[in-house]
Amino acid sequence: MSHVGIIGTGSYLPEHIMTNDDLSNFLDTSDEWIRTRTGIRERRISTDMTTSDLAYEAGVRALENSGLKSEDIDLIICATITPDYFMPSCACIVQDRLGAINAAAFDLVAACTGMIYGMVTAEQFIKSGMYENVLVIGSETLSKVLDWEDRSSCVLFGDGAGAVVMSKSRDGGKILTSKLESDGSKYNLLTCSAIPLQNPYVNIDNSKEAKIEMLRQPKIKMFGQEVFKYAVRTITDNINYILNKAKLTKEDITYIIPHQANQRIIEQASKSCKIPIDKFFMNLDRYGNTSAASVGIALDELLSSGQLKRKDRIILVGFGGGMTSGSILLEWS
Ligand code: UT7
Repeated sequence: MSHVGIIGTGSYLPEHIMTNDDLSNFLDTSDEWIRTRTGIRERRISTDMTTSDLAYEAGVRALENSGLKSEDIDLIICATITPDYFMPSCACIVQDRLGAINAAAFDLVAACTGMIYGMVTAEQFIKSGMYENVLVIGSETLSKVLDWEDRSSCVLFGDGAGAVVMSKSRDGGKILTSKLESDGSKYNLLTCSAIPLQNPYVNIDNSKEAKIEMLRQPKIKMFGQEVFKYAVRTITDNINYILNKAKLTKEDITYIIPHQANQRIIEQASKSCKIPIDKFFMNLDRYGNTSAASVGIALDELLSSGQLKRKDRIILVGFGGGMTSGSILLEWS
């Protein structure tokens, strides 16, 4: 059976760099706190580009890298929690700008696990024979939904986009196995509200506090320590599960690309999996947590660095709001 694989990658980061010192100009925080508690030194913040603009730039690069033309793309999946519109989807805007006239297009919400959910979804469409070439993009402008007065969350995130083109495997990374998981009972740990119910019959809660809350713009709210524990446990569980399923040992793995949330989460997962930390690819010091974009950006950077060799095996592993988690085992050929 032929495998589904990645035949091109791309990424795009907005130009504006926001350092930890920039944050401490208006927030009760410090470079020292942010670096030691998270590993983040700076992040990119979009000053004029929307989520679909970033997605388009990453998509163009992935397409160029794949050697395909935009007309060859049958499906575009955009993973995002910060779309430009409720409707149309970010994927449809990207389709128009790319001129991918033969593609179907939709958005997918799995928060920071979005890229992995998108890639596994694409894998199934390709395996089923419905589509041949799929462009998967993770793109976020999280800066527009951050509470810039909440030092425990806004210091963590940044804007950016990552993309992959997937097809029946030729050269590139082929997917050996994958896993998706959700635990809706923990949905409250990490949220970003949408608009409240608004119609002439609304009768949900007339308390003043509820009304004030409903009038607020959507903002990310997070129970940081609970998310931290969930993250360490699910990264560990996913890696162990995927190794078992593929009948491989940790020595067979060259790199792990975890969702880039917090260096301490990754260090603790490395300890609990007993896999050396230098196998875990990290770029969160430069970009912070870019949610659905993070794994795609990291994969593109790892590939561009020329470090991958034939037969190298890589695990992509993510977790995020929902709560969701997932992993993909790739072999490079
Ligand atoms: O994609 C998933 C997205 N979310 C995550 O990955 C988040 C996972 N959680 C985390 O990364 C960590 O829990 C945080 C980085 C959010 C927080 O780190 P922590 O070590 O769990 O800190 P904490 O919440 O226990 O807070 C310790 C102290 C508190 O002060 P007090 O109560 O001890 O006086 C906080 O108010 O640190 C304070 N604090 C800060 N101080 C300076 C929280 N944020 C900051 C800050 N600067 N930015």
